[in-house]
Amino acid sequence: MKEAFEGFAYRNGELYCDDAPVAEICERYGTPLYIYSHAALTGRFRRLREAFSGVDATICYSVKSNSNIAVIRALAQEGAGADIVSVGELRRALSAGVDPQKIVFAGVGKTEAEIAEALDAGILAFAVESAPEAYAVGRAAEKAGKRAPITLRINPDVDAKTHRHTTTGKKGVKFGVDIDAAPRLFKELENHAHLDVCGAHIHLGSPVTTIEAYESAMDKAVALIAKLRDNGSRSLRLLNMGGGLPIVYKDETELDLNEYARVMMDGAAKVGCRLALEPGRYISGNSGILCARVLYRKETGHKTFIIVDGAMNDLIRPSFYGSWHEIRPVELREREIETVDVVGPICESGDFLAKDRSLPRMEAGETLAIFSAGAYGFVMSSNYNSRPRAAEAMTIGGEALLIRERETLDDLTRGERIPEILLDGKES
Ligand code: LLP
Repeated sequence: MKEAFEGFAYRNGELYCDDAPVAEICERYGTPLYIYSHAALTGRFRRLREAFSGVDATICYSVKSNSNIAVIRALAQEGAGADIVSVGELRRALSAGVDPQKIVFAGVGKTEAEIAEALDAGILAFAVESAPEAYAVGRAAEKAGKRAPITLRINPDVDAKTHRHTTTGKKGVKFGVDIDAAPRLFKELENHAHLDVCGAHIHLGSPVTTIEAYESAMDKAVALIAKLRDNGSRSLRLLNMGGGLPIVYKDETELDLNEYARVMMDGAAKVGCRLALEPGRYISGNSGILCARVLYRKETGHKTFIIVDGAMNDLIRPSFYGSWHEIRPVELREREIETVDVVGPICESGDFLAKDRSLPRMEAGETLAIFSAGAYGFVMSSNYNSRPRAAEAMTIGGEALLIRERETLDDLTRGERIPEILLDGKES
């Protein structure tokens, strides 16, 4: 088992999540099923926290990566804050007990209602992404008789060499304010009576695989803050450097946490700012697996398809980004290795979890574990093909607890209705 998949290990040929046998968990809760290791989630958060020990850094877990309230709760108990992008995520973070003073709110399209609710909750800062949005926050604050804390998100034009769908810090993307245009906007917003311009925010993309990209973004942030101070800014005190820490899916290497922390802490110290960070995938990614059961083996003569009960609606990353996720049988035994496509029941050829993959021969009824599925897995799932979304469980020691019930078929049509005009009179 890869060292990176902490929380998961084979014992006598059986996969365990913490001290609970995965086959038994699947038996109890059914498949497709997401299973998260509490020990891995909290262990990874602690490691990050320790890398920043001795400085006042707020680690805002990026809720979008895995927003189950039990996951957020487990991290909040370790002192995590939250990076949110919607009022839905705000409510999740608050209900999980995250301290509002550790919540930062990013996103290019915050609505008036979302801004008002976050203001009322008393969050640490709005990561504002444009001038019109800043003024919307200002208006909401004026209405509430408050001053809203904002950081301005800067687009530093650093190429973090991420997938084009997840690159956010390069010219031409919708995020942040061009770094050259930022000083003027800072000045303008600092004159707003209801805005407290408390700092700057940068998020380069996800995952960021080199320390150099972070270094270069930090250099630009430091230079910008120094320049703003020269121009008379007095209120800047928070530097939010976003998320993006990579994990091992296949053969990647993680960044050295201490080196990363050093770059962040040195930069923040140069400008005397408190640090905020927004890691998501680093914490949740390898802390979770998706389990799926083999329905059929389909041998076509030129290809073997392993058809499982999990699909692209459950885990879209392979289809959407071409991502690799390690796949292993939940129960090991002697068997031949074959090359297969692992696919789901959805009616399109884009529905696959792995292509041309060397796997031990799997028979119908057996269960597969798809690794590195804790981040951007369940949260990106959908009801495509009218498939109820999967259940989620979390192991705490030897206990596997249900943290989200499987959706029911009735849930699928909840809220839908046939207008009376379409009824032919026979229905009541
Ligand atoms: N902060 C901001 C402002 C972000 O936009 C994101 C991710 C993060 C923090 C957390 O990044 P992380 O530490 O998790 O890399 N669905 C894609 C990833 C999209 C990331 C979006 N923003 C995937 O499955 O790879």
